[in-house]
Amino acid sequence: MTKPFHLAWFNSFAPPAWASPFAGDAGNEWFTGEYHVDIIKQMERAGFDFIMFEDSTFVPETYGGSSEIALKYSQHAPKLDPMALLPILARETSHIGLVATASTSFYPPFILARLMATLDHLTKGRVGWNVVTSSEDIAAQNYGMDKLPDHDVRYEVAEEFVDVVKQLWDSWEPGAVVMDRETGRYADHTKVHPIHHRGKHFAVRGPLNMPPGPQGHPVLCQAGGSPAGRDFAAKNATAIIATNPVISKMKEYREDIRARAEKFGRDPDDIKVLFQVSPVVAETSEGAKKAHHQRFGALSHAQIEQTLAGISSTTEIDFSQFDLDAPFPQDLKTNGHQSILDDFMKRNKGKTLRESIEERSQFGPPIFGTPAECADRMEEIVEEVGGDGFLIMSPSTRRYIDEICSGLAPELQRRGLVRTSYPQPTFKQNLLGH
Ligand SMILES: Cc1cc2nc3c(=O)[nH]c(=O)nc-3n(C[C@H](O)[C@H](O)[C@H](O)COP(=O)(O)O)c2cc1C
Repeated sequence: MTKPFHLAWFNSFAPPAWASPFAGDAGNEWFTGEYHVDIIKQMERAGFDFIMFEDSTFVPETYGGSSEIALKYSQHAPKLDPMALLPILARETSHIGLVATASTSFYPPFILARLMATLDHLTKGRVGWNVVTSSEDIAAQNYGMDKLPDHDVRYEVAEEFVDVVKQLWDSWEPGAVVMDRETGRYADHTKVHPIHHRGKHFAVRGPLNMPPGPQGHPVLCQAGGSPAGRDFAAKNATAIIATNPVISKMKEYREDIRARAEKFGRDPDDIKVLFQVSPVVAETSEGAKKAHHQRFGALSHAQIEQTLAGISSTTEIDFSQFDLDAPFPQDLKTNGHQSILDDFMKRNKGKTLRESIEERSQFGPPIFGTPAECADRMEEIVEEVGGDGFLIMSPSTRRYIDEICSGLAPELQRRGLVRTSYPQPTFKQNLLGH
């Protein structure tokens, strides 16, 4: 029997699919967080372990040398800061984990440690941090840098950053808060320690000016693909989110992460690797097949433009310069997501750019059908990959979220594959529960 697995939802604090005939007023509601409150309640009912908010802090100008196409499709902008949304979502839910993204290239570690510890208190231990190193010089220019450090140097910085943040979270010993009514003493100063960190990239005195939250160290989530990124993830992450449409590569990736974790003295079962998928669910197999083809089949001009503009933003290579019907270029270099680009070039050798982006627009292995058929396929994938679960990604509409949360997830729950309750008090304990 397949072992139970985890579900998470990839999201943005950005406009949902506002132009969809099923969007209602979501185009305005997202600004106040109301839309996200609605959808996260659905996810919690459906047994999702967490919602994850990606983030970036720039308005792209790479595709065609202008922000026109990015802003036309609201790609990367507008985007509100998901950290501010988490306490609102926590107030409206009880158990589901809440993960927001922050970059080790832009935040000072003290501010990040303080922010995450504050959120951990506010959410009663349900918060997580998606650790990214960022990939765009145009974002770095919002923080006083001309360009980002080189890819592997960014991971070296990230290592020291996370080390400092963990030291700050540990700077109050357990029992430091005494709240002794008789003596009127709040905290025991002998249990609160400066960290006096002086490293290659950061100097931080400490201690943190608060005790750690219920999780101590909030869940760290990561998506490293390169050797440096995989090492970083294997050393630090509890949840890893990954994209690959090829089952054998998914398996290879997870095994590699687990081997690296062992090398760093960690129990590989303490890392949950979740793969991105976009299931298309319908009442009939035929309906699902048609809907899948509409979404991922021959791409429309708008879908092609959006996909190319998206790749251009994260690689900082202008894809408007390439002929759509010529072979996909094989010698591209970026200081951004090089591992994603390398993999994409390798997989699409000999194909045209148009053919290549048809696969790219889909993210994970194709999954479509009735709830039972989709559940069968997900079960097969978990069996083959030995995977720990899935990160659902799709255009965000209440209708799509309902198809997953009222159709697919209950089917997975009936099979005992997805949780129906959250037995532990914190996000991390629930995530590591199986
Ligand atoms: C599912 C997923 C979510 C990601 N979310 C973000 C994000 O929110 N912000 C960001 O700057 N990068 C994000 N990334 C990029 C990763 O942090 C990472 O840089 C990328 O996977 C390439 O790996 P590498 O850094 O080891 O080269 C994401 C990647 C994946 C696969």
